[in-house]
Parts: sequence; structure tokens; C-alpha cells
Amino acid sequence: ARSKLTDRFGRTVDYVRLSVTDRCDFRCVYCMAEEMTFLPRQQILSLEELAQVARTFVDLGTEKIRLTGGEPLVRKDILELVKDIGSLGLRDFAMTTNGSKLTTMAEPLRKAGLKRLNISLDSLDPDKFHRITRTGRLNQVLDGVDAAREAGFEGIKLNTVVMKGGNDEEVPALVDFARRKNIDITFIEEMPLGEISEHDRGEALCTSDEVRDIIRQHHELMPTPEDSGGPARYFRMPDSNTKVGFISPHSHNFCSTCNRVRVTVEGRLLLCLGNEHSVDLRHVLRSHPESNEKLRETIINAMDLKPERHHFSSEGDVQILRFMNMTGG
Ligand code: GTP
Ligand code: 5AD
Ligand code: SF4
Repeated sequence: ARSKLTDRFGRTVDYVRLSVTDRCDFRCVYCMAEEMTFLPRQQILSLEELAQVARTFVDLGTEKIRLTGGEPLVRKDILELVKDIGSLGLRDFAMTTNGSKLTTMAEPLRKAGLKRLNISLDSLDPDKFHRITRTGRLNQVLDGVDAAREAGFEGIKLNTVVMKGGNDEEVPALVDFARRKNIDITFIEEMPLGEISEHDRGEALCTSDEVRDIIRQHHELMPTPEDSGGPARYFRMPDSNTKVGFISPHSHNFCSTCNRVRVTVEGRLLLCLGNEHSVDLRHVLRSHPESNEKLRETIINAMDLKPERHHFSSEGDVQILRFMNMTGG
């Protein structure tokens, strides 16, 4: 199905990122404050509403759905939603997770129809891992990575947010880890979302060019022609299947090929991660519970609000006040 969703700049939207919860069992320094209050139940979309949103997007030609959070696996009965969406015949169906629950969830997720997993991993050092995630335990996530490999996903990718003086010297070890596990890894430049006082973003920003130079001291990186339409640029190494990706919102603007929209945990259809333009789908869902037509129409019309690009600054100042856990990245 060709997507019926196009915007004013000629971009086709065929990828939806659904945030299924604002909660998380970790408190990563770049994502959340140490103390967070989470939304009351009635403000977030129910699993039924999430499934209806997913179905409507698929009717409109969406080919790829990614579940995000917070941490999607802390949402109660998440497997039910994964089964519902898994039966819609999507070309790609993925989840971004912190990996803390994969030892028990990887296999059921795969069986429910999930195709690919992105697992966040910022450090291989237990103390540093704990310092960055504040509540996470490294071993649990490493076991989760192995459980995911055993479950037979079509693709597994690690996500690493690189911070100067935080984990940048671990870049070679993380690449080697990915090579050993035969999975991919993407290095991400931190984005200024949410006001997190004790964590200085301007100071910590490590650009993708810097990360690439570090890796090149150990491995040859060959550009790949493949373009997912997504923000990541991928490289191969001559002696491994592992692909190394870079997501560089600061140093390499990728907005002109943006193919995605997000639905926040409160059911706001967000047209760009770096802007506030949004449309309230929850209101539409709840005021027209038995008809899909209004929801469909609202989504189609919302595409006119998709902005041309984001304007993140590299100074680390916050322009977007919502936290990452509301939008799922
Ligand atoms: P794909 O779905 O395969 O493209 O994976 P992904 O790497 O985009 O997804 P993931 O959820 O693993 O996100 C990794 C990082 O990419 C996060 O930091 C996201 O915030 C960032 N990211 C994803 N999409 C966008 C986007 O459209 N704009 C910006 N600025 N960042 C994005
Ligand atoms: N900037 C960049 N990436 C972030 N993530 C969370 N917060 C930020 C931020 N401020 C990443 C996580 C996870 C993905 C969903 O987004 O590490 O891998
Ligand atoms: Fe949780 Fe992911 Fe945010 Fe870390 S980055 S606190 S794991 S939602």
C-alpha cells in the first residue's frame, strides 16, 4: 500500500513511532530527571486506542511502526498490543527498549510478530552504566541482548548516546561488542529535550565526526549506499557483518528526507521531534469512539503541519520542554 500521507514539502510519511508509556525503570541522565512524575492513567492512550491508531495509520499506507516509550516493556499487557499490531501485515515492526526485561520478554515479543529490536547500551562498564542510567544494571541488559539474539529477530541494533567524558572512550569497546554479537550499533548525538539541570548538554556533546575518527583508529569504515530514509547514516567494516550507524541531529541535518511522525503517550500526533506542532488524536478517539472516519481525516490533515526541519542548537540549550520519555525519541 502506497502511503496516502504526504506533506507540504513533498515528503511521504510511511513510518509511525508510537510511544506506549512515559514510564521507565531507568533514569538515564540525558532523558529524565532523577525524580519524575508520570501521567495518570486516563491521560494516556489505552491499548485499544493505541491499536486503533495503528490500524488507521496502516489503512493510510503506513509500512513501518516502532513502539517506543519511556520503556515500552513496562507497559502492562504490552504483548497484547504487539500481537494486534503484529497481525497488520507491516513491512517492518520494531521496538526501542532499554533491554532490562528482555531475558523474559524477547521470545514472546518475537512470537507476537515483532521483527526488530533497538536496545540502548551506553557503557560496558557496570559502574559507568549505573551512573548513566542511575537505576540500571548492566548484566541484566547484557543478558537481554543475548536473549534477543536467541529469539531470532530479523535485526538487532544497539543505540549509544555518546557523551564527552562520559562514555566516549568506550566507543571502540562498544563497536567490538557489537561485532562479537553480530549485531549493529548506532552512535547518537544527544538532543536537547527536557530540562535536566545537573546534566550539561553543551559540554557533553560529542559529534558523530569525532566518534567516527575514534572508530577509524581501529577499523576501516566504508560508507553504505543504503538509505532507510531515516536519520542514521550507516557504514560497514571489511571483516564483519556489523553495521555502524550515526545519528547526527547537530552535525548532519536529515530533515529533508524525513519519513516519520510520532504519537506521544497522550495521543498527540507530533509532526517533528524538534518542534511542537501537534494534533490531539486522543480527543478525536474519545469523542468519536465508534467511527474511524474522523481519526483518518484528522491524520491526513495533520500532515500540513509537518515543519520543514528542526532547529536543535549545539549549545545544549533547551528549546523543547517535553522530555524524551513523552515522545520516545
Ligand atoms: P529506525 O526506526 O530504524 O530509523 O531506528 P532509529 O534509530 O531511528 O530508532 P531509535 O528509536 O532507536 O532511535 C534512535 C535515536 O534516533 C533516538 O535518539 C531518536 O531520538 C533519534 N531519532 C529517530 N528519529 C528521529 C527524527 O526524526 N529526528 C531526530 N532528530 N532524531 C530522531
Ligand atoms: N538525545 C539523544 N538520544 C536520546 N535518547 C534518549 N534521550 C536522548 C537525547 N536527549 C535515546 C536513548 C534511546 C533512544 C530511544 O533515544 O538512548 O536509545
Ligand atoms: Fe528509560 Fe530510555 Fe529514557 Fe533511559 S533513555 S530513562 S532507558 S526511556
